[in-house]
Amino acid sequence: MIRHGVKKGDRVVIYMPMIPQTVYCMLACARIGAIHSLIFGGFASKELSVRIDHAKPKLIVTASFGVEPKRKVEYISLLEAALARVQSKPDKVLVYQRPNLGHVPLTKGRDLDWEEELAKAQCSKCVSVPSDHPLYILYTSGTTGLPKGVVRPTGGYAVMLNWTMSAVYGLKPGEVWWAASDLGWVVGHSYICYGPLLHGNTTVLYEGKPVGTPDAGAYFRVLAEHEVAAFFTSPTAIRAIRQQDPEAALGKQYSLKRFRTMFVAGEHCDVDTLQWSKRVFKVPVLDHWWQTESGSAITASCVGLGNSTTPPPGQAGKPVPGYNVMILDENKKPVKARTLGNIVVKLPLPPGAFSGLWENQETFQKLYFQKFPGYYDTMDAGYMDEDGYLYVLSRADDVINVAGHRISAGAIEECILFHPAVADCAVVGQEDPLKGHVPFALCVLRQGIKTQESKVLKEIVDRVRSNIGPVAAFQKGMFVTQLPKTRSGKIPRSALSALISGKPYKITPTIEDASVFKHIEDLLKKN
Ligand code: COA
Ligand code: AMP
Repeated sequence: MIRHGVKKGDRVVIYMPMIPQTVYCMLACARIGAIHSLIFGGFASKELSVRIDHAKPKLIVTASFGVEPKRKVEYISLLEAALARVQSKPDKVLVYQRPNLGHVPLTKGRDLDWEEELAKAQCSKCVSVPSDHPLYILYTSGTTGLPKGVVRPTGGYAVMLNWTMSAVYGLKPGEVWWAASDLGWVVGHSYICYGPLLHGNTTVLYEGKPVGTPDAGAYFRVLAEHEVAAFFTSPTAIRAIRQQDPEAALGKQYSLKRFRTMFVAGEHCDVDTLQWSKRVFKVPVLDHWWQTESGSAITASCVGLGNSTTPPPGQAGKPVPGYNVMILDENKKPVKARTLGNIVVKLPLPPGAFSGLWENQETFQKLYFQKFPGYYDTMDAGYMDEDGYLYVLSRADDVINVAGHRISAGAIEECILFHPAVADCAVVGQEDPLKGHVPFALCVLRQGIKTQESKVLKEIVDRVRSNIGPVAAFQKGMFVTQLPKTRSGKIPRSALSALISGKPYKITPTIEDASVFKHIEDLLKKN
């Protein structure tokens, strides 16, 4: 990196699969004070280009291929398509050619070969940075189609991660820890890379899925073979295992002798899934709640601090020291126990939480701190019980949680509206037995369009896949003559989401034409 002019404060975009070389790149950036920005491999070229244009990296690091169950991920062609769109081209692209998967041709003058560069590289000293120096920018979805670049300060994050490894996860240095996430998400940054390494824990890097690689016994095998002491996964992954192997018969052949505690996060964990995992993994299973913005748990059962390992079902823990979590109503007043409201955190935020949005401090202030002055608005809704346990129920913004991943409804809508046949659309989350929610599009065709609806749907599905990426898992939609809107033009997302999921829904009095709901309900019955 240094040989190619990367220095403190420069950005390096890392678009790579779950391989050790990705961690080496993150740590190399941290060593010299360069700011890394990892982009999840499941995002396609347009999302990639938006992030590149915003971060303006000096260098992009990528790999020849990623391995997904049904296909190879061709990073280079995705990157080429993204670079064709961007204004801020990087000086260089460093390419790691993965062994045994084929060789990709490099572009002369721009691309660098990983092995050749490594052969020439020299060790360089650590560069000191102030504690608030950005360690990384991590883009996450929000209400608008434009991703938000969460900025993580270096010093507080390191202190906080190191502390949480023992306080929240109850680990001693030397023990083996596994966070089954992807390096491209915040869980991967905090608990595959930095947290365990800072605390002296061996970290497991797993390029695979809970099922299909090769079967639903894979997680048990990894836990047994590496003698994992504590494990972090998502409810979706557990549901996937249960769906394929309801009695976890494949898992029973493994002895999990060092396994003590399991942690889940990323989405609401339903009580049934929680109880099932306790039964088959035979350890306490603890739900905890956090966000890309916080970088670590906001509420948890801190086993290292002696918190109960049998909290009431459905909760996501109590506030972790440093977080003063409160529930406020729309008038900014605290509500009584068990009353649903906006989950907020009284300022200040603890060390390690985000310090801003990259080159967008105005949005940072407006989005997170304006609605509830003196508080950080988490944009989640839920309630607390009398004992201070938090129950997180839903997002208050337009984010859809798909398999524990935050996907912006606005970004999908924007992409669909580019289709010449579509006049209007609304994307909402539909309940899904595996992924929690999947996006569902309600589209209004332009007047006079003769193309078959099924053809238009296929085209918009393909468009979302190639623009946003396969991770959005967008496949379903329906054509309607009108969308329900409030008098101020807003789409009543939570009511529509409930309707699409076949659940009771509430029509707010501000809806302009309430009969539209009935029209959609009738169409759903016919489909
Ligand atoms: N790079 C490229 N593509 C990726 C990818 C990556 N890193 N991760 C996912 N994708 C692709 C998949 O290949 C798939 O593409 P396809 O439509 O061509 O099959 C698509 O994105 C959807 O992937 P995924 O969400 O993994 O769904 P799936 O149906 O293939 O698998 C599960 C279902 C349940 C196994 C999977 O969703 C899963 O493992 N979920 C757990 C997620 C998790 O642990 N999240 C933790 C967040 S903290
Ligand atoms: P991300 O920033 O991608 O980590 O997503 C954070 C969002 O995921 C939160 O704002 C919640 O909406 C949801 N989430 C994360 N953990 C939990 C949990 N334990 N229970 C309920 N929702 C969760």
